[in-house]
Amino acid sequence: MTFVNHPRPTFSLDEAAEVLRQRFGVVGRLDGLPSERDQNFDVRADDGQRFILKIVNGAEPLTAIEFQTALLRHVEINDPSLPTPRVVPTRDGLEFGLLTGRGGERHCVRLVSYLPGTPLAEVAKTPETLRDIGRVLGQLDRVLGSFGHPGAHVAFDWEIRETPRARQRLSHVSDAAQRRCLEKVLDTYDSRVAPTLRRLRHGVIHNDANDWNLLVADPEKGAIAGLIDFGDAAHSPLIAELAVACTYAMLDEKSPIETAAMITAGYHAELPLQDAEFEILLDLIAARLAVSVSISATRHAEAIENPYLLVSERPAWTLLERLGKVDRRIATAILRNACGLEATPGAGRLRGWLAANRRTLAPLMHPHPARQQKHVVDLGNPEAPLARASAAQDHAAADRAYADLQREHGFTLGLGPYGELRTVYTAPFFDSTLIDGARRNIHLGLDIFAPAGAPLFTPLPAKVVAATINPAPQDYGGLLLLEHEPEPGLRFRSLWGHLDHASVRERRVGEELPAGACVARLGDYAENGGWIPHLHLQLVAADYDDVGVIPGVGESAFPGVWNDLFPSPYDFAGLPPETFDRTGQEKDALQAARKKRLGPNLSLSYRRPLKMARGEDVWLIDETGRAHLDCYNNVAHIGHCHPRVVDAITRQAQRLNTNTRYLHDNIIDYTERLAKTLPSELDTFFVVCTGSEANELALRAARAYTRRRDMIVLDWAYHGHTQGLIDISPYKFKRKGGSGRPEHTHVLPVADPYRAPAEWPEGEIGKRYGEHACEIIDRLVKGGHAPAAFIAETIPSVAGQVFLPPGYLGAIYDAVRRAGGLCIADEVQVGFGRVGQSMWAFEEHGVVPDIVTMGKPIGNGHPLAVVAMRREIAERFANGMEYFNTFGGNPVSCAAGLAVLDVLEDERLLPNAVEQGDYLLAGMGKLMDRHSVIGDVRGRGLFLGLELVRDRATKEHAGEPASAIVNRARELGVLMGTDGPFDNVIKLRPPMTFRREHADILLETLDEAMRDTLG
Ligand SMILES: Cc1ncc(COP(=O)(O)O)c(C=O)c1O
Repeated sequence: MTFVNHPRPTFSLDEAAEVLRQRFGVVGRLDGLPSERDQNFDVRADDGQRFILKIVNGAEPLTAIEFQTALLRHVEINDPSLPTPRVVPTRDGLEFGLLTGRGGERHCVRLVSYLPGTPLAEVAKTPETLRDIGRVLGQLDRVLGSFGHPGAHVAFDWEIRETPRARQRLSHVSDAAQRRCLEKVLDTYDSRVAPTLRRLRHGVIHNDANDWNLLVADPEKGAIAGLIDFGDAAHSPLIAELAVACTYAMLDEKSPIETAAMITAGYHAELPLQDAEFEILLDLIAARLAVSVSISATRHAEAIENPYLLVSERPAWTLLERLGKVDRRIATAILRNACGLEATPGAGRLRGWLAANRRTLAPLMHPHPARQQKHVVDLGNPEAPLARASAAQDHAAADRAYADLQREHGFTLGLGPYGELRTVYTAPFFDSTLIDGARRNIHLGLDIFAPAGAPLFTPLPAKVVAATINPAPQDYGGLLLLEHEPEPGLRFRSLWGHLDHASVRERRVGEELPAGACVARLGDYAENGGWIPHLHLQLVAADYDDVGVIPGVGESAFPGVWNDLFPSPYDFAGLPPETFDRTGQEKDALQAARKKRLGPNLSLSYRRPLKMARGEDVWLIDETGRAHLDCYNNVAHIGHCHPRVVDAITRQAQRLNTNTRYLHDNIIDYTERLAKTLPSELDTFFVVCTGSEANELALRAARAYTRRRDMIVLDWAYHGHTQGLIDISPYKFKRKGGSGRPEHTHVLPVADPYRAPAEWPEGEIGKRYGEHACEIIDRLVKGGHAPAAFIAETIPSVAGQVFLPPGYLGAIYDAVRRAGGLCIADEVQVGFGRVGQSMWAFEEHGVVPDIVTMGKPIGNGHPLAVVAMRREIAERFANGMEYFNTFGGNPVSCAAGLAVLDVLEDERLLPNAVEQGDYLLAGMGKLMDRHSVIGDVRGRGLFLGLELVRDRATKEHAGEPASAIVNRARELGVLMGTDGPFDNVIKLRPPMTFRREHADILLETLDEAMRDTLG
């Protein structure tokens, strides 16, 4: 198009036919074709072939012709699948010939094959067609990557780097607004595009993929069957190819950015684009349009009568003006997303970081949103009363609707989901700028409903980017934009809308806030855009400095784009995923099914049972996303779902799980490690699956060793659920359904220091209880009931968290051994460092058992248990009968056990148990001052109890209050249990990862629950 002022050649049809015959040896019928500067003919040869004969404008330099023919030959040779015209040589074997016109000008003449098909301009563009345009161009540019020619390096108006020439044409644009629009585009080109273009990939491109240069063979299918007219081909930035193709395709489209996205996706699949290319693509489209309309304007002025030139002028202006309103970041994100890339680079990293670090972020509000009872407030249903009231901006009705919801669902925190499709956005500024006729209705933030004035805190260190007031109805009111960079290079922003104006004014741009600092308070109707008080919290992964242009709602057509540009703020707000993503049956249904399907003597905890969805360290998260602080379940010893245990189990399960009939390292590694924690005498192990199995085996070994049957136990002990163990568990055989004490079981009273006779001196309690126990043992022996063994929990737990007084166990061990019996320590609950000072609770008593049983915490929830014993006992137990346990000692279980030992050491959890246990004991001691119901506070490490009494003097057991407190605490989100013969001891055994902040929650909740239940 450089030579538009040079007249087209004017050969008649007959002259052209003669040229064709002479030069190319082709005879046929010719029809003239429209062309701006050359003379083209459609040739139907007599032999049935079809060609295009081109008599080139006399002003076209020879190198340009050589360039074009060389380009076509290169494509034909290197990728014959590309639908480009083929060069037909002259009779002399040349790629073109030379002619002299009537006026004496020299013209090149050349012949190319005819490509069948309908110009794209004449068919509807399907998504497949658009993609295919991109594909063909990508394929072409890839092939042309190895092509170069001196004729490719020409400067002309339509080469993208010549865009600034358009400034010289601005005077031809008569409308001032249109001129300003072009100036803006050209300014952007100069400041942003030109410097980038220099750094980008260059190559030879077609540079003119308009609707007339693209052919479709079958309009139904829409695939591109021809790419013609290489007259504008040039060495140029590669991205210009796409920009030009998109520009033409976008004209008159309802959703032009999506149109461009489809072409871009096709191109990217063939020739992947670079980040910097995406960044300027839209600016290049605008630049191309500016070039086009400015050239048209000059032609208006020159009054050139060529409608072909003007055909796209009006739609070009429309598109140009429209692009001016489109947010470039969003449009670019749409292009990237269509290519399967992150809509904004780094979005995935941000999402991953937030998911991995949710638990470490400071709470956005108090109590922490995760701990609150939440309800998803439905603003998606236009008929829901709150949605109706909000759309109508009827404040009183909105308040009423919200209060009704709270009454019905009993929640403290209402949430409006991210990504919700809503009807409440009725103001005109919710019209889409991207898609004609569409509205923005997808919520891009999270709404947190709370009372006006509620303080909000930043979960991460923050820098204030903007602090402003947007007063329009349905706008944000008080608004903050904060920037966070939790790790180098991971920068994002958080937008906080609907804030109270005074608190926003307190913030200064550039101000730094530490994590947990108060950011602002929630605004009321008058200050928050007229909404029911709530926070609109939105994350912004793209670089927005102007908070005013960040959309809070988006078009439903672009979910993937929003997900990247404005990722879900759920993790940032500390909300567990279950909050919005419930799975499985409702609680009532489950309970009914359980009753029907499972044995009826299973019980559920709490008056209002819980359904748990997930465990996370010290937290148990229910199916509604509420996190309950677990202070009871001592099985999750190192925290629920500890990643190292999960990983160890997963890795071993992926490799092998089998039984002890094959050699395997894990069981040996594990028992070696355990041996190192035990007195050296306890050197032989059986690895089993449950505490009951461990105790049952201990019982068998003791009986085999002593050849006796009688057992001595402590009152109210529980050792397991097998018949043999029920027989030695007073907690079972004495209570409902039990058949009483078997003849061979002998029960010693529990040495309970709190309930020791008042007249016993403090320092003698152990000794006195011990003497009493020894008398009983001696009597038994004399009566012919010498025991096989004495078994006891080192800290009787079912009996009510009783801490046996010093000297007591030692005395019994001596007496039993004197009688030829063995001593078994049941460390199923209290082992593995729970007491903090030592790995095993028996160590505190200065005794060494003959057999130790372990379970519960041993595998952090994985079914694993162990019996450790003296070699001599194991040898006598091996009396010829094989010991086989299908699952006991399998490699997966041992891997879990090893991981638990590693974590106990690496995370220094024993010292932590001492520190937190002491803190809790001190705190519980203070509670005694406020609540007379607490008779005794006791504990060692993270094994603690609060004994409740009706009267501190009489020590009358207070079972009902204990149950009421525990149930109230459950409502408050803290889990604990009761135990003891009268169920009056509140039992606490939190995970060993319990920290100070958890201890504070526990203490506050105990206090509150006692106040709530006892007044
Ligand atoms: C002290 C004690 N020993 C043994 C067991 C039995 O363990 P399991 O339930 O794993 O069979 C229990 C279970 O509560 C226990 O508390």
